[in-house]
Amino acid sequence: HTPELTPTDQAPECAIAVDVLRATSTMATVLAAGGEAVQVFSDLDQLMEVSEKWPPLQRLRAGERGGAKVAGFELGNSPLDCTPELVQGRRLFISTTNGTRALKRIQDAPTVIAAALINRAAVVKFLLEKQPETVWIVGSGWEGSFSLEDTVCAGAIAHSIVQHTQLSPDDIAGNDEAISAIALYSQWQDNLLGLLQHASHGKRLLRLDCYEDLKYCSQTDILDVLPIQQELGVLKSLG
Ligand code: MLT
Repeated sequence: HTPELTPTDQAPECAIAVDVLRATSTMATVLAAGGEAVQVFSDLDQLMEVSEKWPPLQRLRAGERGGAKVAGFELGNSPLDCTPELVQGRRLFISTTNGTRALKRIQDAPTVIAAALINRAAVVKFLLEKQPETVWIVGSGWEGSFSLEDTVCAGAIAHSIVQHTQLSPDDIAGNDEAISAIALYSQWQDNLLGLLQHASHGKRLLRLDCYEDLKYCSQTDILDVLPIQQELGVLKSLG
């Protein structure tokens, strides 16, 4: 969902933010690499203010706008920079163009999760175990518009849920978004890197020399990590 498309009806029991390129991929990577937590901000000044109070050796600051790193920040938004050596035991304070804002928009739901293709299986496992009554999968898009990479990830999650629960097509009839996301995933599941290269933000990142990021983010189920909100704006890994 884009801001305009973000549902405004009653908040769901479980809200899942998706920003495959690259914010939620980065968050999953940081937590899988031993980061203490990820704290998300819509606003760069607020990030600075809050992170100032944190011990310098226990924090990392990541700022991205328009795909590029913000001056003065240690990190941009490349998951490949988030090595265990760098992130172990540290909290990542992060603000990105769309991904962290999507998370902030859904932060009032009782359960808030960050999902990407790389941790899809962990998200599905959680949903199958907890069986929340209502779930939103909210794609971050790009500045208000639809994005292929977030939709295909939503489709990958929904596809796996349908398979595990043996839902019939009739069970999701009427949910146009879920049906089209699953169709997109079904068509591209064997060439997700190809799809990401066709996506508008994928092309933007390629112009910024981030092919390796696309390659990394297009992998499915490589990290068994579930970034889940523990307090407002702070996500930790479950378990
Ligand atoms: C975002 O939040 O818009 C993205 O994660 C941008 C990016 O690729 O860094």
